[in-house]
Amino acid sequence: MLTGKTIILGITGGIAAYKGAALCSKLVQAGARVHVIMTDSATKFITPLTLQTLSRNPVHIDTFDERDPSVVSHIHLADHADLIVIAPATANAIAKLAGGHADDMLSTTLLAATCPVLVAPAMNVHMYEHPAVVSNLELLASRGVMFVEPGTGQLACGYVAKGRLAEPEDIVTAIDSWFSRGNKLKGKRVLVTAGGTMERLDPVRFLTNDSSGKMGFAIAEAAVLMGADVTLVAGRTTAALPAGVKVIRVESAQEMLEAVTGRYDDMDIVIKAAAVADYRAVHVSGQKLKKNGEKLTLELARTVDILETLGQRKHHQFLVGFAAETEQVEHYAMDKLRRKNCDLIVANDVSMEGAGFNGDTNIVQVFGPDGLVESMPMLTKRETANRLLELIAQRIAASGGIGE
Ligand code: PMT
Repeated sequence: MLTGKTIILGITGGIAAYKGAALCSKLVQAGARVHVIMTDSATKFITPLTLQTLSRNPVHIDTFDERDPSVVSHIHLADHADLIVIAPATANAIAKLAGGHADDMLSTTLLAATCPVLVAPAMNVHMYEHPAVVSNLELLASRGVMFVEPGTGQLACGYVAKGRLAEPEDIVTAIDSWFSRGNKLKGKRVLVTAGGTMERLDPVRFLTNDSSGKMGFAIAEAAVLMGADVTLVAGRTTAALPAGVKVIRVESAQEMLEAVTGRYDDMDIVIKAAAVADYRAVHVSGQKLKKNGEKLTLELARTVDILETLGQRKHHQFLVGFAAETEQVEHYAMDKLRRKNCDLIVANDVSMEGAGFNGDTNIVQVFGPDGLVESMPMLTKRETANRLLELIAQRIAASGGIGE
């Protein structure tokens, strides 16, 4: 997969540094030439000898430890790299990259590099959400740095939260997808919707659903890695927002409708992974509703179907819907595809273990106007997103390109 590619693997000083060994090994197995740069702190967690053995190359730690007099190491490494991956990237390493610091071998090499950089952050959840870290990540994203988002789970500090380094397999997948798909959506404007809508009943209550936003976020993140210019319209979500995308926050189905239709004409690809409410309250109380009797009947009215509206107004766009089903998946998915004039519909049977709302995995079947196009096994949402975008890019290419 990565044969002939030269990758610099930067390992910085967090407990997840041990996963750098597995990552290094997988990159080498995939055919890459790997040069490891460790920070001093990283050597407190894992030995350079481990990385030297796995990479079959000397490990660089000290900028002034020049072993080959014919070259300046950090410039030589930077000039010959196809990609620099920092995994794990600590808050400090991210801050140094954002600030342009060059006070150790890794930061100096990064400053000298012109190749793309992929950052896989790993830290305590409060550090990850600290405004300084958030703004550094945003700054790096605006400079084109790519990210593999941390996962959610047990953190070394004891929290169960977001912040653990993405699994080495997922980082390798992201690297491979960048090399193989890096330019497949270059110049394409992609709009993704994610999360659930909130339909207010009163100032403190609302109707919503279980969508975490993870599926849509994974699509947005994968589209960025494929070179697209991505706009994300996000409703109520529980997952952390992906970096490198324009984010528009909305609450209700009506707000999502306005955000999406207002940008539709400028988009090449629209992917509607959001779980949009089909009904909203007819009367939204300005004051908190008081208990009044044993029963409360809510009067609900249909929301506008955003996807159907887009399908009716479609001219050059490639339109992809999702279908969350619990039975007769193919029948209902094909019905939605036709009614909403989609180019593809991604059906997930949300009653299946490992599929649908909230989790990190999904099991989807993708249908086109002629029926089943691809049935995917249980995959991480990130990998599902990669495969979906690959399919979309193929279909667009096969039809001669958007608007042509
Ligand atoms: O966010 P996660 O926790 O990761 O979960 C992912 C997911 C289960 C939400 C996602 O995979 C998914 O299935 N999204 C679509 C959910 C849904 O609303 O399905 P639906 O079958 O009710 O709607 C079909 C399509 O019409 C969807 O693309 C939906 O965005 C769209 N729709 C629906 C109603 C409406 N008023 N406007 C719409 O645009």
